Amino acid sequence: MKPLDSFTITEAVLESMDRCPDARLRSVMASLVRHLHDFAREVKLTEDEWWRGIRFLTDAGHITDDKRQEFILLSDVLGLSTLVMAQNNSKPAGCTEATVFGPFFVEGAPMIEHGADIANGAKGAPCFVQGRVTGADGEPVAHALVDVWQADEEGFYDVQKPDPSLSEHRARAQLRTDADGRCHFRSIVAHEYPIPHDGPVGAMLDSLGRHPWRPAHLHFMIQAEGYERLITHVFRRGGPYLESDAVFGVRPSLIADWERHESDDPAKPPVYYTLDYDFVLNRSTPSAD
Ligand code: BEZ
Ligand code: FE
Repeated sequence: MKPLDSFTITEAVLESMDRCPDARLRSVMASLVRHLHDFAREVKLTEDEWWRGIRFLTDAGHITDDKRQEFILLSDVLGLSTLVMAQNNSKPAGCTEATVFGPFFVEGAPMIEHGADIANGAKGAPCFVQGRVTGADGEPVAHALVDVWQADEEGFYDVQKPDPSLSEHRARAQLRTDADGRCHFRSIVAHEYPIPHDGPVGAMLDSLGRHPWRPAHLHFMIQAEGYERLITHVFRRGGPYLESDAVFGVRPSLIADWERHESDDPAKPPVYYTLDYDFVLNRSTPSAD
Protein backbone atom coordinates (compact mmCIF):
# COMPACT_ATOMS: atom_id res chain seq x y z
CA MET A 1 0.00 0.00 0.00
CA LYS A 2 1.30 3.45 -0.99
CA PRO A 3 1.66 5.98 1.83
CA LEU A 4 -1.07 8.61 1.53
CA ASP A 5 0.00 12.23 1.48
CA SER A 6 -1.52 15.42 0.09
CA PHE A 7 -0.54 14.32 -3.46
CA THR A 8 -0.93 10.51 -3.52
CA ILE A 9 -4.42 10.81 -2.02
CA THR A 10 -5.78 11.98 -5.40
CA GLU A 11 -4.64 8.84 -7.23
CA ALA A 12 -5.98 6.64 -4.40
CA VAL A 13 -9.46 8.17 -4.67
CA LEU A 14 -9.43 7.89 -8.48
CA GLU A 15 -8.40 4.22 -8.25
CA SER A 16 -11.22 3.55 -5.77
CA MET A 17 -13.73 4.39 -8.52
CA ASP A 18 -12.13 2.15 -11.17
CA ARG A 19 -14.88 -0.45 -10.99
CA CYS A 20 -17.78 1.99 -11.37
CA PRO A 21 -19.91 0.39 -14.14
CA ASP A 22 -21.29 3.76 -15.32
CA ALA A 23 -18.57 5.29 -17.55
CA ARG A 24 -20.08 8.80 -17.51
CA LEU A 25 -20.44 8.83 -13.72
CA ARG A 26 -16.85 7.59 -13.37
CA SER A 27 -15.47 10.31 -15.62
CA VAL A 28 -17.55 13.12 -14.04
CA MET A 29 -16.60 12.04 -10.50
CA ALA A 30 -12.92 11.59 -11.41
CA SER A 31 -12.79 15.10 -12.84
CA LEU A 32 -14.60 16.50 -9.80
CA VAL A 33 -12.12 14.83 -7.43
CA ARG A 34 -9.11 16.05 -9.45
CA HIS A 35 -10.36 19.65 -9.49
CA LEU A 36 -11.41 19.58 -5.83
CA HIS A 37 -8.02 18.26 -4.71
CA ASP A 38 -6.16 20.71 -6.97
CA PHE A 39 -8.26 23.53 -5.49
CA ALA A 40 -7.44 22.49 -1.90
CA ARG A 41 -3.72 22.27 -2.74
CA GLU A 42 -3.72 25.55 -4.70
CA VAL A 43 -5.26 27.63 -1.89
CA LYS A 44 -3.59 25.50 0.85
CA LEU A 45 -7.01 25.03 2.44
CA THR A 46 -6.77 25.16 6.26
CA GLU A 47 -8.78 22.90 8.56
CA ASP A 48 -10.68 25.92 9.83
CA GLU A 49 -11.64 26.89 6.25
CA TRP A 50 -12.65 23.30 5.51
CA TRP A 51 -14.96 23.42 8.58
CA ARG A 52 -16.43 26.75 7.44
CA GLY A 53 -17.20 25.19 4.05
CA ILE A 54 -18.90 22.23 5.71
CA ARG A 55 -20.95 24.57 7.93
CA PHE A 56 -21.94 26.65 4.88
CA LEU A 57 -23.22 23.57 3.02
CA THR A 58 -25.00 22.33 6.18
CA ASP A 59 -26.76 25.71 6.56
CA ALA A 60 -27.71 25.63 2.86
CA GLY A 61 -29.24 22.18 3.41
CA HIS A 62 -31.16 23.31 6.49
CA ILE A 63 -32.77 26.31 4.77
CA THR A 64 -33.71 24.32 1.64
CA ASP A 65 -37.24 22.92 1.36
CA ASP A 66 -39.89 22.57 -1.36
CA LYS A 67 -40.23 26.38 -1.56
CA ARG A 68 -36.63 27.50 -0.99
CA GLN A 69 -33.69 26.07 -2.97
CA GLU A 70 -30.45 27.46 -1.57
CA PHE A 71 -28.24 25.19 -3.70
CA ILE A 72 -29.72 26.56 -6.94
CA LEU A 73 -29.15 30.07 -5.63
CA LEU A 74 -25.54 29.11 -4.88
CA SER A 75 -25.10 27.75 -8.39
CA ASP A 76 -26.72 30.94 -9.77
CA VAL A 77 -24.52 33.44 -7.90
CA LEU A 78 -21.36 31.46 -8.76
CA GLY A 79 -22.26 31.66 -12.47
CA LEU A 80 -22.50 27.86 -12.73
CA SER A 81 -26.18 27.94 -13.81
CA THR A 82 -25.35 30.37 -16.62
CA LEU A 83 -22.33 28.29 -17.69
CA VAL A 84 -24.32 25.02 -17.83
CA MET A 85 -27.26 26.72 -19.54
CA ALA A 86 -24.98 28.40 -22.12
CA GLN A 87 -23.04 25.25 -23.03
CA ASN A 88 -26.26 23.26 -23.51
CA ASN A 89 -28.33 25.88 -25.34
CA SER A 90 -26.23 27.29 -28.14
CA LYS A 91 -28.61 28.44 -30.88
CA PRO A 92 -28.13 29.67 -34.43
CA ALA A 93 -27.86 33.43 -34.92
CA GLY A 94 -31.27 35.06 -34.95
CA CYS A 95 -32.84 32.76 -32.36
CA THR A 96 -33.84 34.25 -29.01
CA GLU A 97 -31.19 33.61 -26.38
CA ALA A 98 -31.99 31.53 -23.32
CA THR A 99 -31.16 32.52 -19.77
CA VAL A 100 -31.43 31.13 -16.22
CA PHE A 101 -34.70 29.52 -15.11
CA GLY A 102 -34.70 30.77 -11.51
CA PRO A 103 -36.55 29.17 -8.61
CA PHE A 104 -39.97 30.87 -8.94
CA PHE A 105 -41.60 29.00 -11.83
CA VAL A 106 -44.81 27.22 -10.85
CA GLU A 107 -46.14 24.24 -12.80
CA GLY A 108 -49.78 24.58 -13.93
CA ALA A 109 -50.34 28.36 -13.73
CA PRO A 110 -53.85 29.44 -14.86
CA MET A 111 -54.51 29.32 -18.61
CA ILE A 112 -55.77 32.72 -19.80
CA GLU A 113 -57.38 34.17 -22.93
CA HIS A 114 -55.52 36.81 -24.92
CA GLY A 115 -55.88 40.23 -23.35
CA ALA A 116 -56.63 38.96 -19.82
CA ASP A 117 -55.03 40.59 -16.78
CA ILE A 118 -52.60 38.17 -15.13
CA ALA A 119 -51.84 40.46 -12.12
CA ASN A 120 -54.69 38.97 -10.04
CA GLY A 121 -54.00 41.38 -7.17
CA ALA A 122 -50.19 41.66 -7.58
CA LYS A 123 -49.28 45.32 -7.02
CA GLY A 124 -47.75 47.44 -9.76
CA ALA A 125 -48.43 49.92 -12.57
CA PRO A 126 -50.39 48.32 -15.42
CA CYS A 127 -48.38 46.97 -18.31
CA PHE A 128 -49.71 45.66 -21.64
CA VAL A 129 -47.46 43.01 -23.13
CA GLN A 130 -47.58 41.72 -26.68
CA GLY A 131 -45.32 39.43 -28.60
CA ARG A 132 -45.04 37.13 -31.56
CA VAL A 133 -43.42 33.70 -31.67
CA THR A 134 -41.81 32.65 -34.94
CA GLY A 135 -39.28 30.11 -36.14
CA ALA A 136 -35.88 31.11 -37.52
CA ASP A 137 -37.27 31.39 -41.08
CA GLY A 138 -39.96 33.81 -39.91
CA GLU A 139 -42.74 31.22 -39.94
CA PRO A 140 -45.40 31.89 -37.24
CA VAL A 141 -45.46 29.34 -34.43
CA ALA A 142 -49.16 28.81 -33.82
CA HIS A 143 -50.54 27.33 -30.61
CA ALA A 144 -47.22 27.61 -28.72
CA LEU A 145 -47.61 27.30 -24.96
CA VAL A 146 -46.31 30.49 -23.33
CA ASP A 147 -45.67 30.56 -19.57
CA VAL A 148 -45.05 34.00 -18.11
CA TRP A 149 -44.15 34.95 -14.51
CA GLN A 150 -42.80 37.99 -12.70
CA ALA A 151 -42.32 39.75 -9.36
CA ASP A 152 -44.60 42.54 -8.09
CA GLU A 153 -43.55 46.14 -7.46
CA GLU A 154 -42.21 45.19 -4.02
CA GLY A 155 -39.94 42.61 -5.62
CA PHE A 156 -41.79 39.46 -4.52
CA TYR A 157 -43.18 36.53 -6.49
CA ASP A 158 -46.57 35.19 -5.35
CA VAL A 159 -44.90 32.04 -3.96
CA GLN A 160 -42.75 34.19 -1.65
CA LYS A 161 -45.78 35.98 -0.17
CA PRO A 162 -48.67 33.53 0.26
CA ASP A 163 -51.83 35.55 1.10
CA PRO A 164 -55.08 33.64 1.71
CA SER A 165 -57.09 36.80 0.87
CA LEU A 166 -55.61 36.88 -2.65
CA SER A 167 -55.53 34.50 -5.59
CA GLU A 168 -52.80 31.87 -5.28
CA HIS A 169 -51.37 32.70 -8.73
CA ARG A 170 -50.47 36.36 -9.08
CA ALA A 171 -48.52 37.84 -11.99
CA ARG A 172 -48.14 34.43 -13.64
CA ALA A 173 -50.16 32.64 -16.30
CA GLN A 174 -50.09 30.41 -19.35
CA LEU A 175 -51.51 31.25 -22.77
CA ARG A 176 -51.38 29.93 -26.33
CA THR A 177 -50.24 31.86 -29.39
CA ASP A 178 -52.84 32.42 -32.13
CA ALA A 179 -52.59 31.21 -35.74
CA ASP A 180 -50.14 34.04 -36.52
CA GLY A 181 -47.93 33.23 -33.50
CA ARG A 182 -49.14 36.28 -31.55
CA CYS A 183 -50.21 36.68 -27.94
CA HIS A 184 -51.00 39.60 -25.63
CA PHE A 185 -51.95 40.08 -22.00
CA ARG A 186 -52.09 42.69 -19.27
CA SER A 187 -49.75 42.51 -16.29
CA ILE A 188 -47.77 44.90 -14.09
CA VAL A 189 -44.51 46.65 -14.83
CA ALA A 190 -41.36 44.71 -13.92
CA HIS A 191 -39.15 45.96 -11.08
CA GLU A 192 -35.66 45.10 -9.88
CA TYR A 193 -35.58 42.84 -6.80
CA PRO A 194 -33.07 41.07 -4.55
CA ILE A 195 -32.75 37.28 -4.72
CA PRO A 196 -33.55 35.66 -1.35
CA HIS A 197 -30.56 36.76 0.74
CA ASP A 198 -31.51 35.91 4.33
CA GLY A 199 -29.60 32.60 4.20
CA PRO A 200 -26.02 31.40 3.74
CA VAL A 201 -25.83 32.51 0.09
CA GLY A 202 -26.85 36.07 1.10
CA ALA A 203 -24.20 36.03 3.85
CA MET A 204 -21.63 34.82 1.31
CA LEU A 205 -22.52 37.63 -1.12
CA ASP A 206 -22.18 40.11 1.72
CA SER A 207 -18.73 38.79 2.70
CA LEU A 208 -17.66 39.05 -0.94
CA GLY A 209 -18.82 42.68 -1.19
CA ARG A 210 -21.53 41.68 -3.68
CA HIS A 211 -25.19 42.80 -3.79
CA PRO A 212 -28.15 40.39 -4.23
CA TRP A 213 -30.10 42.43 -6.81
CA ARG A 214 -31.47 41.37 -10.17
CA PRO A 215 -32.47 43.88 -12.87
CA ALA A 216 -36.20 44.19 -13.69
CA HIS A 217 -37.37 41.36 -15.95
CA LEU A 218 -40.29 39.25 -17.12
CA HIS A 219 -39.82 35.47 -17.35
CA PHE A 220 -40.97 33.43 -20.34
CA MET A 221 -40.99 29.74 -21.11
CA ILE A 222 -42.21 28.90 -24.63
CA GLN A 223 -42.91 25.36 -25.84
CA ALA A 224 -44.12 24.25 -29.27
CA GLU A 225 -44.06 21.00 -31.17
CA GLY A 226 -41.07 20.79 -33.52
CA TYR A 227 -39.10 23.50 -31.68
CA GLU A 228 -36.65 23.56 -28.77
CA ARG A 229 -38.14 24.78 -25.51
CA LEU A 230 -37.08 28.37 -24.82
CA ILE A 231 -36.54 29.53 -21.22
CA THR A 232 -35.65 33.19 -21.06
CA HIS A 233 -36.37 36.63 -19.59
CA VAL A 234 -36.94 40.04 -21.13
CA PHE A 235 -35.04 42.76 -19.21
CA ARG A 236 -36.16 46.37 -18.78
CA ARG A 237 -33.85 48.81 -20.54
CA GLY A 238 -32.57 51.70 -18.45
CA GLY A 239 -33.11 50.03 -15.08
CA PRO A 240 -30.44 49.43 -12.43
CA TYR A 241 -28.31 46.25 -12.14
CA LEU A 242 -28.28 45.37 -15.85
CA GLU A 243 -24.47 45.42 -15.60
CA SER A 244 -24.26 43.61 -12.27
CA ASP A 245 -27.06 41.02 -12.16
CA ALA A 246 -26.44 38.87 -9.04
CA VAL A 247 -27.05 35.70 -11.09
CA PHE A 248 -25.37 36.71 -14.39
CA GLY A 249 -28.57 36.28 -16.44
CA VAL A 250 -28.52 39.40 -18.65
CA ARG A 251 -27.89 39.15 -22.42
CA PRO A 252 -27.90 42.40 -24.43
CA SER A 253 -30.31 40.86 -26.97
CA LEU A 254 -32.88 40.33 -24.18
CA ILE A 255 -33.05 44.00 -23.12
CA ALA A 256 -36.21 45.81 -24.29
CA ASP A 257 -38.11 49.06 -23.77
CA TRP A 258 -41.03 49.25 -21.40
CA GLU A 259 -42.69 52.39 -22.79
CA ARG A 260 -44.51 54.67 -20.37
CA HIS A 261 -47.84 56.23 -21.43
CA GLU A 262 -50.21 58.76 -19.90
CA SER A 263 -53.82 58.83 -21.03
CA ASP A 264 -57.05 60.84 -20.50
CA ASP A 265 -59.07 58.06 -22.08
CA PRO A 266 -61.39 56.69 -19.34
CA ALA A 267 -61.12 53.25 -20.93
CA LYS A 268 -57.37 53.19 -20.18
CA PRO A 269 -55.39 53.54 -16.94
CA PRO A 270 -54.09 57.11 -16.46
CA VAL A 271 -50.52 55.78 -16.46
CA TYR A 272 -49.51 52.50 -18.03
CA TYR A 273 -46.60 50.78 -19.75
CA THR A 274 -46.31 48.69 -22.90
CA LEU A 275 -43.80 46.01 -23.83
CA ASP A 276 -43.55 44.58 -27.32
CA TYR A 277 -41.10 41.70 -27.76
CA ASP A 278 -40.85 38.95 -30.38
CA PHE A 279 -39.35 35.51 -29.82
CA VAL A 280 -37.58 33.29 -32.35
CA LEU A 281 -37.50 29.55 -31.62
CA ASN A 282 -34.90 27.09 -32.84
CA ARG A 283 -36.22 23.99 -34.63
CA SER A 284 -35.62 20.81 -32.68
CA THR A 285 -33.60 18.10 -34.38
CA PRO A 286 -35.75 15.02 -34.95
CA SER A 287 -34.65 12.17 -32.67
CA ALA A 288 -33.09 9.09 -34.30
CA ASP A 289 -35.87 6.73 -33.13
C1 BEZ B 1 -35.39 34.81 -10.88
O1 BEZ B 1 -35.22 35.55 -11.80
O2 BEZ B 1 -36.54 34.56 -10.58
C2 BEZ B 1 -34.22 34.25 -10.11
C3 BEZ B 1 -33.18 33.68 -10.81
C4 BEZ B 1 -32.09 33.19 -10.10
C5 BEZ B 1 -32.06 33.27 -8.71
C6 BEZ B 1 -33.13 33.86 -8.04
C7 BEZ B 1 -34.21 34.36 -8.75
FE1 FE C 1 -37.11 36.62 -11.71
